[in-house]
Amino acid sequence: MQRITINTCENLVSEIYIKNDLKDEIQSFFENKNYFLITNKTVAKLYPQIVYKFNTDKVIIIKDGEKYKNEKTFNEIINQLLLKRIERRDCIMALGGGVVGDLAGYVASSVLRGVELIQIPTTLLAMCDSAIGGKTGYNTKFGKNLVGSFYPAKKIIIDPQFLNTLNDYEYKCGLGEILKYAFIEKSCKHDIEYNLLGLLEQLQKDDVKKEIEKIIAICVSLKANVVNKDIKEGGLRKVLNFGHTYAHPIETLMNYKKISHGQAVAHGMKMAAKLALSLNRIDENYFQKINYLIDKFELTGKIPEFDTKKFIEIMKQDKKVQNKKINLLLPVAPAVVELVDNIEEPSLEASLL
Ligand code: NAD
Ligand code: GLY
Repeated sequence: MQRITINTCENLVSEIYIKNDLKDEIQSFFENKNYFLITNKTVAKLYPQIVYKFNTDKVIIIKDGEKYKNEKTFNEIINQLLLKRIERRDCIMALGGGVVGDLAGYVASSVLRGVELIQIPTTLLAMCDSAIGGKTGYNTKFGKNLVGSFYPAKKIIIDPQFLNTLNDYEYKCGLGEILKYAFIEKSCKHDIEYNLLGLLEQLQKDDVKKEIEKIIAICVSLKANVVNKDIKEGGLRKVLNFGHTYAHPIETLMNYKKISHGQAVAHGMKMAAKLALSLNRIDENYFQKINYLIDKFELTGKIPEFDTKKFIEIMKQDKKVQNKKINLLLPVAPAVVELVDNIEEPSLEASLL
């Protein structure tokens, strides 16, 4: 079993465990306290053997889908927990993908002003990204993840065997974030050089599943290192947003339909590479490599021709934008990204593929 500790500058400690079949040992993580399970209908149906380990009155099952990651579901969960008389020393376990994890995390940080949280991510995206690092929250009509908190889980239990039931579409969604780690690895300032970019270059598309435990561990280690140094995204953590400032308007303009977050990030990384090439930040070689890798794993889908003015307007609404000035993470060398500010709008427009 791999064990990685996140020990942030704010004295918050998360223990991350990664092992195949860890889901069969969930009870070994139980201590002498009440455990509330929050999951969704799909996951509960797929993994009843986990749900049965909890008292039925301590299980909360929400509807499945990003559209339920909202204030209403948040309040419903809080009310159920209060009705079930949750106490401060109790613990909430989140079993599911990023939607369940983000919502349950925010609930855990809010109910009774905060109870212990354990994340059990079941999608590739949640294992590599969303369950790590304490970002929690829900969407509002003004945009995604605009309400929430930084609340790291005490424990994160990762069992790659959950991925056996994940469909191709969701798998690719996680792969989009994995490629992101490959393109930002050196900017994560880790002491160890994993060379995820090299590993992904060597792998054939269909072999990635065979190496997935190793790949998850690399991504988790990179993210843990970043979060250790900068949990509240004052600086270093911004590197994790590579591709995301473009992904946000793509998802918004497509109404979050017909495109997954991972696909949108993959398109975003291609656009960022195009901009970097036009600004002479990278050479043609690395530009081609970025595109080749994204295409090899078939991460992008069909996207419409966007109204560029609208696109850029939405980019300016991004949480990370300051004073309406667009600053973007651009690739500048293999596995290195850099925040570039004051990008001129014509260059930006030209980068929208
Ligand atoms: P998701 O939670 O909606 O899960 C995708 C689908 O897979 C759902 O239908 C779910 O029921 C199903 N599923 C889950 N586990 C399964 C399994 N083992 N087998 C079969 N089906 C399974 O989506 P996601 O991609 O996991 O997460 C996306 C969310 O994560 C977004 O809301 C995004 O904002 C958030 N996110 C958060 C962070 C963060 O740092 N907190 C980072 C990235 C993304
Ligand atoms: N997914 C970006 C972050 O956790 O900061």
